[in-house]
Amino acid sequence: MTPTFANPITDVATLSGNAVMGLRRWLSNVLFLHFDLWPWNSVGAIPTQALTVRGMRKKPQDETPPEPSGTRREYRYQHEPVLLHEALAFLQPAPGKIFIDATLGGGGHAASLLAAGASVLGLDQDLAAIMAAEERLAQHEDHFVALRMNYRSIGEVLEETGVDQVDGIIADLGVSSYQIDTAERGFSFQQDGPLDMRMDSQGARTAADIINENSEEDLARIFFEFGEERLSRRVARVIVKRRALRPFHRTLDLAEVIASVLPRKGKAHPATKVFQALRLELNDELGALRDLLENAPRLLKPGGRIAIISFHSLEDRIVKQTFARQSTEWLDRPEWPEPRRNPDLSFRLLSKKPVEASSEEISRNPRARSARLRAAERLSS
Ligand SMILES: C[S@@+](CC[C@H](N)C(=O)[O-])C[C@H]1O[C@@H](n2cnc3c(N)ncnc32)[C@H](O)[C@@H]1O
Repeated sequence: MTPTFANPITDVATLSGNAVMGLRRWLSNVLFLHFDLWPWNSVGAIPTQALTVRGMRKKPQDETPPEPSGTRREYRYQHEPVLLHEALAFLQPAPGKIFIDATLGGGGHAASLLAAGASVLGLDQDLAAIMAAEERLAQHEDHFVALRMNYRSIGEVLEETGVDQVDGIIADLGVSSYQIDTAERGFSFQQDGPLDMRMDSQGARTAADIINENSEEDLARIFFEFGEERLSRRVARVIVKRRALRPFHRTLDLAEVIASVLPRKGKAHPATKVFQALRLELNDELGALRDLLENAPRLLKPGGRIAIISFHSLEDRIVKQTFARQSTEWLDRPEWPEPRRNPDLSFRLLSKKPVEASSEEISRNPRARSARLRAAERLSS
């Protein structure tokens, strides 16, 4: 049975025999592996907060994903995949190949990988994304499994299930249009909602906790480091002063206080950078990206490919620098008598410069404007 909002999914801790059988069947069918090789008894130890499997019916309590604002009658998970054709050109999906879609979202990229005949292990830490993708991709159930988890732990999960390596990985970073457009998720400074910003609604802290509890110095660091906000100290000072009178609970309240101290420059809302910073800090987005990139060489088969789509310079810099380090053959330093072979050499770059969206895509989907795609291929040794 396909999970729906009325009839959704389960935690790993409550995996029933049927679910394990389902996962087992999928893995054996899709990944062509033999049952006996799999450490099934340890499924419960998978380091995911919640693992969802097609056919499950229970969902964590208090976790009905909210609807995007303005669509109260019918749930809609809307997100248009960016740089889709460009990513597929790098990944080269084909029947028999296995891909990890590390950021499943609405399943846009995964749908195209599946349509090309590949199998997909889709990950997302957001329950709403998992449910939307499960519904959308129901027809591919023999070749698709969705796991609710942070992609930074994918190495451990694969180890746990015995899957050694895959043919490709795609990560389309950041938040989805659904997350931004759903005021109740608290990502938007343009709609009023709780100051939440958790991608994983089981996470312990919200953005309000950071704003109301972290020291002034720490807030300034966050705004500077993750928002590149030049006036970070001034913003932190005003926030700390205001919260002593009345703590922050709503997005618009915070956005207005920020706007009162920052000059408006161009079209961007003055709170843009601070909201980005809070989101990155709360969800440790850059830390998760670093972990994924460090794990990638051992997750990919020789010849396997990785494609990463980023949306701001902090993410793109990490991808660029990590790929550069992993694809440089010889290292040289003035103090060394001769160049040394790079012990981290594992990739060949598929594009020297990042691939950007065409003007046609940007006019159709303005979100694609800031997207940058970088890709690399796993070397054989
Ligand atoms: C831009 S959307 C992906 C959209 C998707 N490619 C599509 O075409 O529909 C990014 C998704 O990644 C998820 N995400 C971000 N960081 C994550 C992480 N560290 N682990 C798991 N999911 C993550 C978000 O919850 C969001 O649903």
